[in-house]
Amino acid sequence: MQGELDQADALIEQLQGTDDPAQFEALETRLVGRKAGIITRAYSRMREVTDADARKRFGQELNRRAQLVADLAARHQQRRAAITRRGPAIDPTMPARDRWVGARHPVTAVIDEIAAIFRELGFTIALGPEAERDWYNFGALNFPDDHPAMDMHDTLYLGDGAVLRTHTSPVQVRTLQQYPPPVRILAPGTVYRRDFFDATHAPAFAQLEGMAVDEDIGFADLKATLTEFARRFYGGSRRVRFGPSYFPFTEPSAQMDVEIDLGDGKGTRWVEILGCGLMHPAVLESAGLDSARYTGWAFGMGPGRIAMSRHGIPDIRLLYDSDVRFHAQFAPGAAAEDAR
Ligand code: DAH
Repeated sequence: MQGELDQADALIEQLQGTDDPAQFEALETRLVGRKAGIITRAYSRMREVTDADARKRFGQELNRRAQLVADLAARHQQRRAAITRRGPAIDPTMPARDRWVGARHPVTAVIDEIAAIFRELGFTIALGPEAERDWYNFGALNFPDDHPAMDMHDTLYLGDGAVLRTHTSPVQVRTLQQYPPPVRILAPGTVYRRDFFDATHAPAFAQLEGMAVDEDIGFADLKATLTEFARRFYGGSRRVRFGPSYFPFTEPSAQMDVEIDLGDGKGTRWVEILGCGLMHPAVLESAGLDSARYTGWAFGMGPGRIAMSRHGIPDIRLLYDSDVRFHAQFAPGAAAEDAR
């Protein structure tokens, strides 16, 4: 009798050691098969044990093993079912496949951040056409005919009085023609200049226009708003300064500089980040507003230049060349430092 128990134990040990369905089934049959199972047959030989106590102990030993086999069979079934649900077994030693994670273009990221700040300051987004009437691009903005400032813009003419807009400032007049003051807008968009594509020039690039028009708006509003913007964008302790400048559509005109560490080891320096000014009365009149009643201020900046100084990008062509090796550096998780 002990011989059967030992045999059963040896098979049970093998049963515990296998995950293979065919092998498991064969072992299970040899143990508890209906006709020839070792345990099954041992049960029928129980009556040969004459001593009642010994018979009882033998029965208990058999029960224990039968239960163990039943438990192992149940566990085996569960594992098989789980594997079927999950599909074929995986090979954990296989090299992982790289995932492509999309990245926001660094210029888009700058525009989005600036837009979020101005939205909090009460500005809405306005857009205008890229193919523009030259009157909106120049005349309405107080550029005198044949004024040299127009040369500065290296215009791409489309013929028939149309141009590719050289700046986003025409959105000022288009917006004011459509909406009565108070108006506060931010106008991002692409602008075009007849420039060579070199390290510092691109024939098409991003610009951001801002404008606020109301009764009683002055230079103090301009300074306060743009300073607040710079603090939120660059950090609260950032120093800003305003200096004189010239644009035909603002009077007075100014530029705003921010003290920036470009991360090149040379410390901080003043970097011009935008042009601005009080809107020239002629611009308000172009839009059909009474310049005795309404005043306003405006600014324009280049998000591309801001992205370049932020990331230490040395060549504007990197921004607009669409080389995936460049853009992948801005994907989440990529090791792109944020020098600003
Ligand atoms: N339009 C100017 C440019 O393209 C930028 C600019 C300067 C816009 C001053 C403004 C402003 O609204 O007030 O260079």
